[in-house]
Amino acid sequence: MAGMRVASHKGLMALVVAVLVMCGGGLFVTPAAAETLVPAVYVFGDSTVDVGNNKYLPGNVLYPLPLPYGIDLPQDLRPTGRASNGYNVADAFCTVPVPVALEKTFPFGGVNYGSGDSGILDKTGLNKSMPLAQQVGFFAATKSKMIEHAGDQGSVDEIERRVSESLFLISSGGNDMFEFLNSPVLLFYIQLATNYRKHLNTLYDHGARRFGIVDVPPIGCVPALRNFSATGACMEFANNLTRNFNNGWLSVVMKNFAADPERPGITYSVGSSYNMITNFTADPEAAGFSEVASACCGDGRLGVNPRCHPGSAVCNNRTDHLYWDLAHSTDAAAHKGAALIFDAPVDQGFAAPINFRQLVSDGFSSI
Ligand SMILES: *[C@@H]1O[C@H](CO)[C@@H](O)[C@H](O)[C@H]1NC(C)=O
Ligand SMILES: *[C@@H]1O[C@H](CO)[C@@H](O)[C@H](O)[C@H]1NC(C)=O
Ligand SMILES: *[C@@H]1O[C@H](CO)[C@@H](O)[C@H](O)[C@H]1NC(C)=O
Ligand SMILES: *[C@@H]1O[C@H](CO)[C@@H](O)[C@H](O)[C@H]1NC(C)=O
Ligand SMILES: *[C@@H]1O[C@H](CO)[C@@H](O)[C@H](O)[C@H]1NC(C)=O
Repeated sequence: MAGMRVASHKGLMALVVAVLVMCGGGLFVTPAAAETLVPAVYVFGDSTVDVGNNKYLPGNVLYPLPLPYGIDLPQDLRPTGRASNGYNVADAFCTVPVPVALEKTFPFGGVNYGSGDSGILDKTGLNKSMPLAQQVGFFAATKSKMIEHAGDQGSVDEIERRVSESLFLISSGGNDMFEFLNSPVLLFYIQLATNYRKHLNTLYDHGARRFGIVDVPPIGCVPALRNFSATGACMEFANNLTRNFNNGWLSVVMKNFAADPERPGITYSVGSSYNMITNFTADPEAAGFSEVASACCGDGRLGVNPRCHPGSAVCNNRTDHLYWDLAHSTDAAAHKGAALIFDAPVDQGFAAPINFRQLVSDGFSSI
């Protein structure tokens, strides 16, 4: 990974606009059936939602993540750059995102800006990913394009209304935790919270109103960190760091944001990937998993040594594994988790203060 460079914002812009990936033409998918619930979905975050953007970063030798990544996708789609055996959490919420040339359709179905290795902080994944700030900047450019094309696709007012009714899905923070496990904690949390709020404000100022936030999973339970324990147990220090961020900081950031008198009209839900993974890990069988500690793809103890690469051992049954590789969930886990965040009653703890179905239940006025 050493030596990778991310092009200047402007240089990369041209590139990304050419290849960005649609999120479902505005389809928002419930676990059982596809329903069009919002005009568009705009996706931001890390490898939990990257559907192939990183493979277009100049000098990025890791992406596209080679087979066995994507092993369960149709031949013509793989490898996609997703850190999964199949689809990921963004896919689980939005149907069939495939790479498209955006000139024709990009402003109106939604766009996925997610970038593996990125974080809430600019310094996370430096030079090998597009940080959240840059992703938000790309949305601003997308929005400007939409306004430029007003007329073809509706008036400026109609575009503004569509954006305000669209879902802004953000899944970030895990890499910040990984990279800065040893940072002075209070300062680190303050930086994360300040940056998160800044990005939310920017999205709001560009018209976003409906926010689906995915919190940070218990990163201490990924195979790579379990590997530090003689028994393969979760690393409690890392989980605690994450839990404190989710419960003490992220939820406050969202409450304050939604209560900002200068920014009326916000609705949001925080989906808890933390509680979801904890639930799967606490009673794997009930959740339909038989293995929640080892990576499906990879060699050695817990499948982390060496990590998943071409020629690695791959488990036979991917649907009974929680983790695909040393740090990422399987397609099965992403879909089960998305279903809980979307539909589980709020008192089960998988989303707050409302679940994602309630978040999009107002629907939208017209297409
Ligand atoms: C990132 O890129 C900048 C500019 O090319 C360089 O100065 C810096 O050392 C790089 N940092 C890392 C961590 O790779
Ligand atoms: C996993 O743990 C072993 C033994 O402690 C160590 O040698 C190896 O480097 C670790 N692998 C990773 C990927 O952390
Ligand atoms: C968890 O974090 C809190 C707040 O930083 C700290 O007081 C507590 O000691 C931590 N617990 C563990 C087990 O690390
Ligand atoms: C996991 O969540 C389900 C609800 O989807 C609940 O019925 C179950 O008790 C939870 N399991 C654990 C171990 O918390
Ligand atoms: C794979 O695991 C799932 C979940 O435990 C199970 O339902 C399915 O039957 C298994 N498939 C095979 C081929 O063993």
